[in-house]
Amino acid sequence: MSIKMDNVGQSFPKPDEEGMVCIVDSIDLEINEPSINMLLGPSGCGKSTILKMMGGVRPFGVACPTAGEIFINGEACHGPHNDVVMVFQKYANRPDLSIWDNVAFPLTLSLWKKRIPPQEREERVREMLEAVGLADKAALRPSQLSGGQNQRVALARALVLRPKIILMDEPFGALDAQTREEMQHLLIELQEKHNCIIVFVTHDVEEALLLGDRVIVLSTKPATIAENFEINEPKPRSSIWLGSTYANQQREKILSVLHASTSKDFQ
Ligand SMILES: Nc1ncnc2c1ncn2[C@@H]1O[C@H](COP(=O)(O)OP(=O)(O)O)[C@@H](O)[C@H]1O
Ligand SMILES: [Mg+2]
Repeated sequence: MSIKMDNVGQSFPKPDEEGMVCIVDSIDLEINEPSINMLLGPSGCGKSTILKMMGGVRPFGVACPTAGEIFINGEACHGPHNDVVMVFQKYANRPDLSIWDNVAFPLTLSLWKKRIPPQEREERVREMLEAVGLADKAALRPSQLSGGQNQRVALARALVLRPKIILMDEPFGALDAQTREEMQHLLIELQEKHNCIIVFVTHDVEEALLLGDRVIVLSTKPATIAENFEINEPKPRSSIWLGSTYANQQREKILSVLHASTSKDFQ
């Protein structure tokens, strides 16, 4: 399994003006083993744009990417790929469906319906609901669940397809601190169990330190990779670990790259 971006760039038409503005420039990135990879950068720098490109989500009416090429498992990829799923902050659960049906939803699409027999589909949904701790909520609707529980549903729905690559766009951004911590631990557990590649967008340095095997720091305007940090520490990492000498050193390095790469906006 692998995801690779080869000199990828994205420009958009300028609003109310002629010409294009470059949002993402010359991204070279290769991830080829199960791991959590944090894409870290300030708001508006182009993180979601990069993640959507990886997921094959194409903006309406604009060429995408405008430069370079994206490869999934070594093959050039120009749209959504069966081995790749996305999870967003707005968890996109359907209000009219039960929790069970929300998790089962991708399996009802014709491609997966053909591939996976009904009994296995049912087993997978049951297994995922148990894994995210919602087995007793299967018959409820999303409106009867909390924000954290709804994000668990979205996670279960993503994993029910057993994807090799999961792309997550600030998925825990709207959750309270305690729920967020629970979700971070759940994510680490699920990533280790499913042995997948996760690319996780965040603007939070602490979240990047807690979850990342690798922290990819982005610069702004346009977004480029400023630096790549490997965090070789066992997980889950505790809040005590966040105060360790190693974590302090990594945080300092990450912050100094972030500050250096964003201060160019003001020059
Ligand atoms: N389809 C689009 N058309 C024009 N501009 C866009 C489009 N998508 C994103 N942008 C611009 O790209 C920049 C980066 O956006 P985004 O990737 O959402 O940033 P982030 O996720 O880091 O907050 C923003 O200035 C945004 O307005
Ligand atoms: Mg974003």
